Amino acid sequence: MQNNLKDKTILIGITGGIAAYKICELIRMYKKAGANVKVVMTKNALNFVTKLTLETLSDNKVFVENFETQEREYSPEHISLCDEADIMVIAPASANTISKIATGICDNLLTSVVCAFNKPVIIAPAMNTNMWNNKIIQKNISILKENNYHILEPETGELACKTTGKGRLCDLNLIFEKTSEILGANAVGSGKLKGKKVLITAGGTIEKIDTVRYISNFSSGKMGIALADEAYKQGADVTLIITKPVETPYKTVYVQSAEEMQREVLKSGLKSDLVIMAAAVADFRAETVSKQKIKKTSADTMTLNLVKNPDILKNLCEQKKKTKNKKTVIVGFCAESENLLKNAKEKIAKKGCDYLIANDISKKDSGFSSDYNEVYILDKNGKKSHIERSLKTVIAQKILEKVFE
Ligand SMILES: Cc1cc2nc3c(=O)[nH]c(=O)nc-3n(C[C@H](O)[C@H](O)[C@H](O)COP(=O)(O)O)c2cc1C
Repeated sequence: MQNNLKDKTILIGITGGIAAYKICELIRMYKKAGANVKVVMTKNALNFVTKLTLETLSDNKVFVENFETQEREYSPEHISLCDEADIMVIAPASANTISKIATGICDNLLTSVVCAFNKPVIIAPAMNTNMWNNKIIQKNISILKENNYHILEPETGELACKTTGKGRLCDLNLIFEKTSEILGANAVGSGKLKGKKVLITAGGTIEKIDTVRYISNFSSGKMGIALADEAYKQGADVTLIITKPVETPYKTVYVQSAEEMQREVLKSGLKSDLVIMAAAVADFRAETVSKQKIKKTSADTMTLNLVKNPDILKNLCEQKKKTKNKKTVIVGFCAESENLLKNAKEKIAKKGCDYLIANDISKKDSGFSSDYNEVYILDKNGKKSHIERSLKTVIAQKILEKVFE
């Protein structure tokens, strides 16, 4: 198996369960594979395994409470631990800690860290069978699954409480392999899109009125950036056309207006394997852009003449048709505040793209400017699939998976 763990930082969270002693062996396995291991544990976990043992095995300071001496003055521990780690593995995860994570409780260092952690988290529960079967615990497990935590279910066997049933910590090899699998999938340049050229647009276009004023919209560009980041992580040769300067490890082209964006898209779009137009292109622009700042006059109103902007998505699809291009998959986005699916169906037919990602921007907890989104993916044959509300990074993974299916 490929070693994806070398030089990666794995943050292990240990809670107060009898299986805590097994994590000493897991640390040795990670260390052997070349990973840097950090440990955060609950106070209750200290009853089962000592800090000294874990510090010796991990070769690092072990963290327990929120208010210990801060290693860095400028960053609290729950934030600095998050920054440093590539993945978090909570094992064994007690019923108590699972329930706290599922409800967003952050009353110790471990739960604060996991709440602030925006990278993959593996959770390996271990507990008495009745605790595991408890409906509330099962509900909390479902919440964690829905929120993209990787749950490694306990095994059935003999338990420390002298009973037999489901609840024993899963095999350490399984935790190790899952960690490697996730880090491998997230590794830059090693993924499924190696050799693919991907062009993505992002952000709201900026349509100038004069030297200081413009028309734009609330699009943050986060969805397009998440797609570009993900495509890059999976090994694609990525170009991001974006309306605000950003620092990325891949090529970006900074544009402002819809016309500038169209020029760039039509120049290189059909040389790509995939074009995703996640930018929010303004439908209209000012008919004339004043070279000077427009002065305020004594009039109470002002009329601004607007003209239609080019339809970049439609124009690229037409170019594809004209040139009989069979290679480029074109994906459009459609942001609607009402009749989402009806409008999306009409739009995919009108534009002629291969896929259309429809999102409802009337929702307060997803869409524009949010880190979250909830979308439907429509294809040109009328099929649709739904991606429930998730982080835009997760939505990006699912969109790429779908269009490269
Ligand atoms: C000997 C002993 C073994 C325990 N084993 C487990 C266990 O395997 N899983 C579990 O969820 N709780 C277990 N508990 C109960 C937890 O320690 C308890 O719920 C505690 O509040 C967990 O705290 P933490 O989640 O902050 O670590 C055990 C308690 C004792 C005394």
